[in-house]
Amino acid sequence: WMSHGDHLTRIPPDFRVIAHTANAPIAAIRHRHRPLYGIQFHPEVVHTPRGSELLANFVFKVCGCRGDWNASSFVERTVAEVRGRIGTERVLCALSGGVDSTVAAALVGRAVGRQLTCIFVDTGLLRENEAEEVCSFYRNADFEFRFVDASGRFLDRLAGVSDPEEKRKIIGREFIAVFEEEAARIGGVNYLVQGTLYPDVIESVSTRGPSATIKSHHNVGGLPEKMSLKLIEPLRELFKDEVSRAGRELEIPPYILGRHPFPGPGLAVRILGEITRERLAILKPADRIFMEELRRSGEYEKIWQAFAVLLPVQTVGVMGDERTYENVVALRAVTSMDGMTADWAEIPRPLLALISNRIINEVKGVNRVVYDISSKPPSTIEWE
Ligand code: XMP
Repeated sequence: WMSHGDHLTRIPPDFRVIAHTANAPIAAIRHRHRPLYGIQFHPEVVHTPRGSELLANFVFKVCGCRGDWNASSFVERTVAEVRGRIGTERVLCALSGGVDSTVAAALVGRAVGRQLTCIFVDTGLLRENEAEEVCSFYRNADFEFRFVDASGRFLDRLAGVSDPEEKRKIIGREFIAVFEEEAARIGGVNYLVQGTLYPDVIESVSTRGPSATIKSHHNVGGLPEKMSLKLIEPLRELFKDEVSRAGRELEIPPYILGRHPFPGPGLAVRILGEITRERLAILKPADRIFMEELRRSGEYEKIWQAFAVLLPVQTVGVMGDERTYENVVALRAVTSMDGMTADWAEIPRPLLALISNRIINEVKGVNRVVYDISSKPPSTIEWE
């Protein structure tokens, strides 16, 4: 799997190339005398006409793998590993309310019970009513749950910052600072659980070539080096669909497992340019309206991820006899398997019209709504 950090410099001397295609980025090699095979491909290969078949042949027929990964053996093995690693120490978990951190917490909770304290930080960059909803869900969990309202300090640190990578770094640093403070308060904590997935890991690997770090995902690349907690990342080798399967195995309810992914830096990367309380107050209700209508129409479940973005431009509009000069909200909705590639979702036109009307009528400061029709690649899912 040629991810961003990898490159093949030369074919090892005892190997020869057995397949090579010019138009699909794929090549296969085999050892001259021993039953050793290698294949090199880019993720796009999976989407070529016989891409999946080709990879399946390699994995099952050539390598002799069995394809017997299943959620219950994953849960069992991971719980045992985590228990072995943590022993009797205390562990903290960064709970975001999303699928990944919920599954990570449930796994670690199953392993070490109340040695685990889950901390949910309100960064001020959450969606409308999200803090209340998350708190009410976790208050009854069997691990310890703490809510930290750090919104003021996050927004203060972000004041005047508009560079996306800078925003991510600030948020990453602040997150860890909050956790270290909580850890000190609890005392004797050595470990921090994070719901990092495999796509986050590979997208954060930096290379020296032109395809250097795409984004420093705050839960991997943005971590400050001097962080004093050791990381436990039980989902580090999983893709999104495998996390859901593990979640079902752990009996996490469907309304949590069905939630769209939400990035760690939250609305910070959906307010292009500077983040202010005023701009948050525009984006939040616009995003809420979008979600309400997607859920009401049954489209939410068909879409992998959807959200509103507040653009850093103002455009002219007309209201009564007056010209207005106000904000533009972009709607983004994609279908995807794992977030590595994505297509823009074909939301029915009447639904788009309804959402647009509601946002323009109900959200003060917005006079235009646009729909993003770009796929990944070459675009990304988020706008920053
Ligand atoms: P992109 O925009 O890279 O997004 O196509 C792929 C998936 O990753 C999420 N994403 C992030 N998640 N920290 C996160 O935890 C980040 O900085 C970040 N940036 C993007 C994005 O929402 C999508 O699901």
